[in-house]
Amino acid sequence: MIEAHLQEWLELSLRWAHLTVGIAWIGASFYFNWLENRLIRQQSVNPSIEGDLWAIHGGGFYHVQKYEVAPDELPAQLHWFKWEAYFTWFTGLALLVLIFYGNANAYLLDQSVAQIAPWQGITIGVATLAISWIFYDLMCRSAFAERHMLLALIIFTYFCLLTILLCNTFSGRGAFIHVGSAIGTVMVLNVMAVIVPSQKSLVRAMETGGERDAALGRAGLTRSRHNNYLTLPVLFIMISSHYPSTFSSSWNWLILIGIAVAGIVVRHYFNVRHLPGTKWWLLLVGAGIFVLIALMTLPESRSTLDTVKSVSIENVRSVIHERCTVCHSAAPVHTDFQVAPGGIVMDTDEQINTLASRIYTTSVATRSMPIGNLSQMTEAERQLIGDWYAQLGRTSQ
Ligand code: HEC
Repeated sequence: MIEAHLQEWLELSLRWAHLTVGIAWIGASFYFNWLENRLIRQQSVNPSIEGDLWAIHGGGFYHVQKYEVAPDELPAQLHWFKWEAYFTWFTGLALLVLIFYGNANAYLLDQSVAQIAPWQGITIGVATLAISWIFYDLMCRSAFAERHMLLALIIFTYFCLLTILLCNTFSGRGAFIHVGSAIGTVMVLNVMAVIVPSQKSLVRAMETGGERDAALGRAGLTRSRHNNYLTLPVLFIMISSHYPSTFSSSWNWLILIGIAVAGIVVRHYFNVRHLPGTKWWLLLVGAGIFVLIALMTLPESRSTLDTVKSVSIENVRSVIHERCTVCHSAAPVHTDFQVAPGGIVMDTDEQINTLASRIYTTSVATRSMPIGNLSQMTEAERQLIGDWYAQLGRTSQ
């Protein structure tokens, strides 16, 4: 009991920290992108200033200037905005280990997808993060580096293949979180290994009066563009584990890729919206893809209601007590779940009836439960829950 409680609070503190530093990182990145796009270019007034911008926020006026190259003298204090990225990664990794590796059978693996042992799954998971960075970094340093669209296409294809591969190796949740972690790792290492060094070379050039490393400068710009387009896909993945109709679907890989594309298109809209010309159609395309996926994942309708077998609550109770209450009980007996997950308890008929639609959604429509099918629910039992739910709908009409 104590152990489960401590685990919950450790998870809570890490998730809270992860979300907070993540907001600080992505928030600063959104702000600087916006700033760059909205600067009033006014070189004619002062040739060393590329542009400036006035803003009002929190009860004060702010005046920001961007230098054409650099100020004559290095300011005493210069803010770098890098720790947010590093801490987001560290807290994210800690959560991955705590949740997905700490209880791999439930969260990471699904024996109906691939029969692998926890240590194998964890090895594949960790390798995925390393390989993704190595491949991405090699591509960015290759002959494709200067051909931006081609480079973007190669990276996109890589992540699509990774998604397909992982969706055939891990549980839906496990696959999604690893695609997200791989993208997140690429983004953080972009900051650490390229963007910050590129900025350092700029500062060093100023101090010594020497030349800035131009190639490094270009690489920094490319990588920060990539990071910019990856933000919305990664944010979707991070919240997806609350939405079984995305990760539990047999088309989960396509859903992830589709929503990622919608996110990239929407991000692109915000990147180009200050330019002349109509751009709102980009938002429509993004929303269109999203709605299409929502429709695509619609559960099959049970049009043959009349053929539904009559199911008694005794039958339902016995299935649920066999397959669900090992975890979802006031006193669970499962060794890894000493407290009912999500506070969901199905001990009594009343609780079962109250939870009917969620029981149906998780065990029949999306099959996200029993988690990892650890309690080995059979097809016939899912069918029985489906019939019971259809019957409930009919009697309540
Ligand atoms: C081995 C343990 C285990 C078993 C068995 C199990 N669950 Fe769960 N269940 C969990 C865990 C863990 C979560 C929390 C998942 C998360 O973190 O999102 C959960 C969450 C839920 C939720 C709330 C989340 C949601 O998506 O709505 C429902 C409803 C649910 N389970 C239904 C069921 C049903 C119905 C069964 C039996 C057919 C079942 N569970 C069997 C572990 C289990």
